[in-house]
Amino acid sequence: MTDTDALRDQILAEIAAAASPEALESVRVAAMGKSGSVTALLKTLGGMDPEARSEAGPRFNGLREAVTAALAARKIDLETAALNARLIAERQDMSLPAAVAAAGTIHPISQVMDELAEIFADLGFAVASGPEIETDWHNFTALNIPESHPARAMHDTFYIAQSPPEGKLVLRTHTSPVQVRTMMSQAPPIRIIAPGRVYRSDSDATHTPMFHQIEGLVIDRGITLAHLKWTLETFVKAFFEVDDVTLRLRPSYFPFTEPSVEVDVGCSWAGGKLSIGGSDSWMEILGSGMVHPRVIAACGLDPAEWQGFAFGTGVDRLAMLKYGMTDLRAFFDADLRWLKHYGFSAFDVPTLSAGVGA
Ligand code: DAH
Repeated sequence: MTDTDALRDQILAEIAAAASPEALESVRVAAMGKSGSVTALLKTLGGMDPEARSEAGPRFNGLREAVTAALAARKIDLETAALNARLIAERQDMSLPAAVAAAGTIHPISQVMDELAEIFADLGFAVASGPEIETDWHNFTALNIPESHPARAMHDTFYIAQSPPEGKLVLRTHTSPVQVRTMMSQAPPIRIIAPGRVYRSDSDATHTPMFHQIEGLVIDRGITLAHLKWTLETFVKAFFEVDDVTLRLRPSYFPFTEPSVEVDVGCSWAGGKLSIGGSDSWMEILGSGMVHPRVIAACGLDPAEWQGFAFGTGVDRLAMLKYGMTDLRAFFDADLRWLKHYGFSAFDVPTLSAGVGA
């Protein structure tokens, strides 16, 4: 065995033993660096006579090639091993359910609004919205509540002090102005619901200055009170998830509907607990009626051609009736214990097929 063979075996053994890229680099420098052992051997070729050089040249170069190839191969091995170790360490099993429970909950009002949107979407209703800072005209006048009408006083309106000269601004007192905006911006037939925040200067156990309503509006040709009744019955059955639902329509008065009806749902208080169904007792749930011809005309449609019905109800109240909450003010206290108890999981998306209250 020549010295070259011995040196090669030694370097190749060091390369094979290098356990990290840094260790391999030290071996490389010691052999192939400026003052490395292989470099030193190659330098001696210059001082040799031609005969000795032609014998030593191929041997030394063979050594250099063997070391270079072994370094490259070991480098790839180490890199592959490092990558594999990292892939194993960072492995994520995407099929596992989320390990951490979501910290927050969906507020019952949001959940009920989603339930309502789901139920009415199935009946072909789109969701419409309007501004919470509303003009006096949209909130009152166009809805057949002229200046001096007693209904204005009943609404405990918040007026905006800095209103522009062309019209007073209010915080909308109900979602009904969305009816007006929809009729003015869309050609009939119209089928919409409009959930949202409304404001009245009122505060006690059953009233908060901000609360939530949902409005419904249908405008088409030949719409009658029968369509209204069927729609409300279908809605109440789906919302409370009971088939045995009795509705009672009581004559009432709203300036923007004629005739106007208030709708009660049959319920019972057996055992002190409210359950929807039967007709032992009655619970008022919404206001509705046939849209007043004056409202249709104010929105630029011909009441001789287009009729419709509308309804409006409190979302907070619907949530309380369905999920058994008793104090409205707790809805807005942001008490985490209450939210944990009454809130819904973010995965609990209401669908008709799974039951909107699932
Ligand atoms: N806007 C009424 C309120 O705030 C509720 C209402 C009653 C809406 C009858 C309607 C309706 O669309 O037809 O008390």
